[in-house]
Amino acid sequence: FPVTIVPATGTKTERLAALRAQTITCQICPHLAKSRTQVVFGVGDPEARLMFVGEAPGADEDEQGEPFVGLSGKLLSKMLTAMELTREQIYIANVLKCRPDMPAKTSGNRKPTRHEMEACLPYLRAQISIIAPVVIVALGSTAVEGLFGPQKTTISRLRGTWMEIDGVPVRPTFHPSYLLHNQNLALKRQVWEDLLAAMERLGLPISKKQQGYFLPPPA
Ligand code: URA
Repeated sequence: FPVTIVPATGTKTERLAALRAQTITCQICPHLAKSRTQVVFGVGDPEARLMFVGEAPGADEDEQGEPFVGLSGKLLSKMLTAMELTREQIYIANVLKCRPDMPAKTSGNRKPTRHEMEACLPYLRAQISIIAPVVIVALGSTAVEGLFGPQKTTISRLRGTWMEIDGVPVRPTFHPSYLLHNQNLALKRQVWEDLLAAMERLGLPISKKQQGYFLPPPA
C-alpha cells in the first residue's frame, strides 16, 4: 500500500484538512473507489479529547459524506447527550472510509474485509496522530479488529477493558447497531459503563443521575 503522508506542520485543523485532501481521492481499493458515492473521512473537532471509531459508512453515510448519520448515528447522538456532550465537541471516524460495496440489487451492509481494513488503517492512524485524543471509544468488534487485527476473544469480553493504540487508551464497547437489535437494559448498562469509564478518564464530571442510568429498577 502507498504510505500515507501525515502532514507534520500547521494546526490540527490544517493538518487534518491536508490529510482529508489525500484521503478523499484514495484509489487503494479500486472496487471501493468505483462503488462509493464519496469517501467518508470523519467529522468533529480536530482538537477533540474524545474520539469514536466505527466500522464503515453505511448507505446513509455514503450518501451524506458524514459518519454515523443513519439509525446507528441517531443512537450514538443519544449516547452523547447522556454524556452531556455534543457531536461538535468530539471526533467521529470509521476504520473504513468507503462504504463496503454490495452486489447489485442487494441491500444491507457487509463487513469490511481484512485486506480493506489494513489498506485503510493508515488513514485512521494518521487521524489519531493528528487529533491526539485522550480517549478512543471503539464501537463494535469490527472496529476493534480494524484497529488491532483479529482478536482471540469476543467484543463481550473485550468491553469493560482498556486497550491501547499508538499510546492512546481505547475502550471497546458494543456497536450502536447491536444495541438497536438487542433492546435489553443490561446491554445498555454495559455500554453506558464503558462511556462512564471514558468520561472518568477524560476527567469529565459525572452526576449521581448519570451514574444510575440503565440500572435495573429497584425490586
Ligand atoms: N456504522 C458505522 O460503523 N459507521 C458509520 O459511519 C455508520 C454506521
